[in-house]
Amino acid sequence: MTERVAIILAAGVSSRMNTELAKVLHEVCGRPMLAYVLDACREVGVEKIYVVVGYGADQVKERFADDLDIVWVQQDKQLGTGHAVLCCKEHLADFDGQTLVLCGDGPLIRAGTLTILLEKHKTEHAAVTLATAVLDDPTGYGRIVRDLYGNIQGIVEDSDCTREQRSIKEVNPSYYLFSNKILFEALEQVKPDNVKGEYYLTDALSFIIATGHKVVAVTAVRPEEAMGVNSRMQLSTASKIMQKRIQQELMEHGVTIVDPDNTWIDARAKIGRDTVIEPFTYIHGKVKIGQSCRIGPFAYLRHGTVLEDDVVLGVFTEVKNSTLADSVRARHHSYIGDATVGRNVNIGAGSITANFDGEKVNRTTIGDNCYIGSGSILIAPLELKDGSHVSAGTVVSQESVDKLGQKEQTSVSK
Ligand code: UD1
Ligand code: CA
Repeated sequence: MTERVAIILAAGVSSRMNTELAKVLHEVCGRPMLAYVLDACREVGVEKIYVVVGYGADQVKERFADDLDIVWVQQDKQLGTGHAVLCCKEHLADFDGQTLVLCGDGPLIRAGTLTILLEKHKTEHAAVTLATAVLDDPTGYGRIVRDLYGNIQGIVEDSDCTREQRSIKEVNPSYYLFSNKILFEALEQVKPDNVKGEYYLTDALSFIIATGHKVVAVTAVRPEEAMGVNSRMQLSTASKIMQKRIQQELMEHGVTIVDPDNTWIDARAKIGRDTVIEPFTYIHGKVKIGQSCRIGPFAYLRHGTVLEDDVVLGVFTEVKNSTLADSVRARHHSYIGDATVGRNVNIGAGSITANFDGEKVNRTTIGDNCYIGSGSILIAPLELKDGSHVSAGTVVSQESVDKLGQKEQTSVSK
């Protein structure tokens, strides 16, 4: 089998984003853009990924410190996409396999499309296989220039287009599979003679075509997959598209989402079959929801929430870093933070865990079959035994529970 590596370009300064943060760290549905590109590479079996970093390099490396398949490559000056790839020369100059090149600012890429690209490359015995997409508004993208017979002649960047070329709607989504040696030979030829004065990867492609190598394209790429994120507007558009994908997948797995337009679910969330998500629910971070739960309307689930089966969370219920066992109910206006709640517990309207004492965050543990009356404040750290009964309107501290002694400990009231 041919060996294959990937290069992901992620060094650019993002002037259009107007940000201190490295562009590829901006999040789409809770995950940095780069994470999606990395996953797409992994899904098609790439085991070694060279990520070129420059602007905000330390931030990026720190965020992905656990990803051991990444080889970090530094590009000190951002002289263009061609130069960025050339920075990998010390690692790849002698590599005789295939190199997938992708941009870190293209989170909507799908592994399925990459698979088509890889297969086409193989069956056509190509030197380069690229993807192309047809956009209603191709502004900003490199245009695919073809000859009268439809053969690709090259890619011309938006800022270098003639008026005629600017009207071309077939664009370069910027993912390619190269025969590695041909790629690096061509990159040596690239000169920065263009409007931006940059070394373009797309010029390397024109060289490869000019030298008579076979370059083919996968033309059926969906417009959304071609989208590069260069501005905050595009970031929000990409997030919307990703959100739709996340919800579609959940629905295919048996989750009911009553109003997809008014629901937001993090890419890291997992939701079980026959759970119903009511409108205006916001799920952020790593959240796990079991089967047959009913969530919302207006629920807010945050990082570290684990709901087992048959849990009911209603309006204005917020849960953070907590585990709620089977059949817990918190139907109205509650805050449950840093808590472990046992099976079949009823949390009355307006009850909260007071988990922060001004200095540190403390845990609350509620046993099975407890009843927490409306408007109760559970001051953490606190442990309530199985079957405890807290009357409505009670402020409960560990001290007050301990004072009740062994006998009455299951019934706490004012
Ligand atoms: C690039 C393509 C364009 C394509 C578009 C798709 C080139 C010259 N142009 O344009 O044909 O239609 O993507 O989204 O390749 N980067 C570096 N180092 C650099 C410059 C850029 O690592 O010196 C990285 C950026 O961080 C980014 C990626 O390369 O992730 C693309 O760079 P960007 O400036 O966004 O290129 P576009 O103008 O979008
Ligand atoms: Ca871009």
